[in-house]
Amino acid sequence: MSLRLGDIAPNFQAETTKGHIDFHEWLGTSWGMLFSHPADFTPVCTTELGKTALLAGEFAKRNTKVIAVSVDDLESHNKWIPDIEDVNHIKVNVPIIADEGRIVATLYDMIHPNASEKTTVRSVFIIGPDKKIKLTLTYPASTGRNFNELLRVLDSLQLAADHSLATPADWVKGENLIVVPAVPTDQIKGKYGVEPEIVKPYLRYVPASVVK
Ligand code: BEZ
Repeated sequence: MSLRLGDIAPNFQAETTKGHIDFHEWLGTSWGMLFSHPADFTPVCTTELGKTALLAGEFAKRNTKVIAVSVDDLESHNKWIPDIEDVNHIKVNVPIIADEGRIVATLYDMIHPNASEKTTVRSVFIIGPDKKIKLTLTYPASTGRNFNELLRVLDSLQLAADHSLATPADWVKGENLIVVPAVPTDQIKGKYGVEPEIVKPYLRYVPASVVK
């Protein structure tokens, strides 16, 4: 059965381009993002790994460790990295798991045989500091993911986890936030220091400035 939100992210040991890891130990108390790509030396993946490297500082600001995986071996990953660096003019610091034994791919259901029997689809798992899965996403091989959207989701997840705030459709950082239904209206002023804008009894906005 595939993994669901709230499940514990399965632990594994793996070889990566940055050395051997125990996944849970490597995550420590950080947020994490595990994402698969179909194969090394492929066009879309070369742009995706480059984009991840370019955004490394943004993920770090969000206390989020990022790790990539495909079913290629370590030698292949290490030969491919200079291409990613050449194309994207960036150093690749993101570790890439060598999963030629398909251990991670199987644990996380990343091989969808009706799409491809040989390679992983483009999966993303965002994992909270409690090791629980907070987001899953699956894209086909031909569609590169939007890594700025993944940062936006991380912001939203962290607002919910740390401040009981939700984000409306198409929300971008700086826009008003929604107080989650679990917070009673008469407690909003005390909790956030502002009176909410009450659009409906269940739709209460506070400004982004309530979060430092
Ligand atoms: C790739 O870059 O991984 C890719 C692009 C198009 C189709 C399949 C894979």
